[in-house]
Amino acid sequence: MCGIVGYIGPRKARTILIEGLKRLEYRGYDSAGICVYHDGVLGLQKSPGRVSEVEALAEADPVIGAGTIGIAHTRWATHGEPNQANAHPHVDTSGRIAMVHNGIIENYTTLKKFLIDQGCEFTSDTDTEVLVQLIGHFRANSCDVLEDAVRAALQEVTGTYGIVVVSVDEPDKLVVARKGSPLIIGVGADEYVVASDASAIIEHTANVSYLDDGEMAVITREGMRTTTLDNVPINKEVSQIEWSLEEIAKGGYEHYMLKEIFEQPEVTRMAMGGRLDLREMQIILGGLQGIDRELVKTRKIILTACGTAWHAGLVGEYMFEELARIPTEVEYASEFRYRNPIVEDGTVVIAISQSGETADTLAALREAKQKGALALGLVNVVGSTIARYTDAGVYLHAGPEIGVASTKAFTCQLVVQALVAIMLGRRRFMSQSDAKFYMTALSEIPDKIETVLQQSENIKDIVARHVDRDNWLFLGRGYNYPVALEGALKLKEISYIHAEGLPAAEMKHGPIALIHEGMPVVFVATRCDTYEKVIGNIEEVRARKGHVIAVATEGDEEIRKYTDSVIYVPDAPVPLQPMLTVVPLQLLAYHAAVARGCNVDKPRNLAKSVTVE
Ligand code: AGP
Ligand code: GLU
Repeated sequence: MCGIVGYIGPRKARTILIEGLKRLEYRGYDSAGICVYHDGVLGLQKSPGRVSEVEALAEADPVIGAGTIGIAHTRWATHGEPNQANAHPHVDTSGRIAMVHNGIIENYTTLKKFLIDQGCEFTSDTDTEVLVQLIGHFRANSCDVLEDAVRAALQEVTGTYGIVVVSVDEPDKLVVARKGSPLIIGVGADEYVVASDASAIIEHTANVSYLDDGEMAVITREGMRTTTLDNVPINKEVSQIEWSLEEIAKGGYEHYMLKEIFEQPEVTRMAMGGRLDLREMQIILGGLQGIDRELVKTRKIILTACGTAWHAGLVGEYMFEELARIPTEVEYASEFRYRNPIVEDGTVVIAISQSGETADTLAALREAKQKGALALGLVNVVGSTIARYTDAGVYLHAGPEIGVASTKAFTCQLVVQALVAIMLGRRRFMSQSDAKFYMTALSEIPDKIETVLQQSENIKDIVARHVDRDNWLFLGRGYNYPVALEGALKLKEISYIHAEGLPAAEMKHGPIALIHEGMPVVFVATRCDTYEKVIGNIEEVRARKGHVIAVATEGDEEIRKYTDSVIYVPDAPVPLQPMLTVVPLQLLAYHAAVARGCNVDKPRNLAKSVTVE
């Protein structure tokens, strides 16, 4: 997500912090900041945009130039636009405590109300500021040392965090804590460098201590003390970094795309975090609160997007119609924008976009809004053009997606649409028991994705048998038809193999003429009400000596009789199956591209964000 760097030692902190942020730039960010303590003052500079902009500000700041303890941050916004006020570090009302944070404070609105009642004045829209204000509140009222105030505040928090905290009143101390967001402590000869990953540490020391969830550390010039959040001392071993800088950036994966495929359990949890309340059986979507009454009266939904996001919209169409019983259509943005669409009263147009900058999608949104539609965005990049143009929306929380081929953003687009569809369904015809059924099943999806990911090597072996084939077909029915389209697109765009996705029943209307001996045909054939029909389609392909690869439901031994290879996924309610069935197809495309020696992260002719028409 974002980058954190902290330093305490004999050297000047500024260069170490700024260079550390530059090492973390690959993680993606929209703003940055630095805070260094010197002689009773916290020097603080922050700015939207590049690290270089903060570097220039820091170089002109004498306090930042003089201090030997400090913190720095590159932000990937989740709550609050990427601007100067929302950039980290954040300080408490007293101005005596500064903090940087990676993660999401899910219960920040509740905590913020409490703190405002206590007289705290907020200067940002972020969830992060709530945490540092809470620390300041405990430090001012009940805790004599910074680490106790941090402990007390974190006991009140739900969500994820990696934080580093400094204070004017205890100027030779960094307090570090983590839960759900990585933090590593570099142990130098007489200095410490704290960072989100080893790339910001490796040039100073190879000796590192990995903080685990629920742990915190108090670091002074004399040493480091690590404890649990309940202040139980723990011994942390110091190990050696053995990765190169490039390997660190990719988290040990060969490519960003593979890293992002394997991040899907974590980011789908983030997409649900603070939104899926299984205790109260509620869906909480802060970004829709202002318009949810209008939403309930929706008479038609138009989903508009491009590429992978359009495939996500096709799944969304089934979800909105089945779970919310709202008539829904899906439009290619590039087509919708030019055909003078009919937009009737009560229409909600939802733009789906990872980047939030796709020109066709923005234009389609403008066209719909001009015709009176309520405009929503399901976007990954906070503060992006599409996000700012819509009347409301829900962020994907997928974190920066660096691989050109979209993977984790797609699954988060499905998760977020499921949340919206269940929320709307519950306000219309969905029973509480049905809502509980789908919400519980949705909460189980991240662990089920973990299970699917364990088949990566099996999928690599399957691909190896066909890597010389230049034409593939991907087939599915119902919710799995869009997954077939997405699987074909993934294969095309990173391995340059021609592939086509189709509704399985369409084979007999022409494409079956393509089937020849050994042709790879992928069926998404999970347990659903059209399963028997799909088996019939599989037999049509086998009768013509096509080579059938099936994505099937765990436990379905029957399908082995009809297929050459099977990739199993855990069972799930049909509307949620695409979140699982797409993962084998992402891995299939990935392994094919690697086997063919293609540039997986930067495929030829493609851009990550298509801001041209
Ligand atoms: C997907 O792998 C492609 N990179 C491309 O189709 C992409 O989904 C499309 O350009 C839409 O991008 P957006 O989600 O950023 O709007
Ligand atoms: N949720 C915090 C914010 O939006 C931190 C985001 C991050 O990890 O960079 O500022």
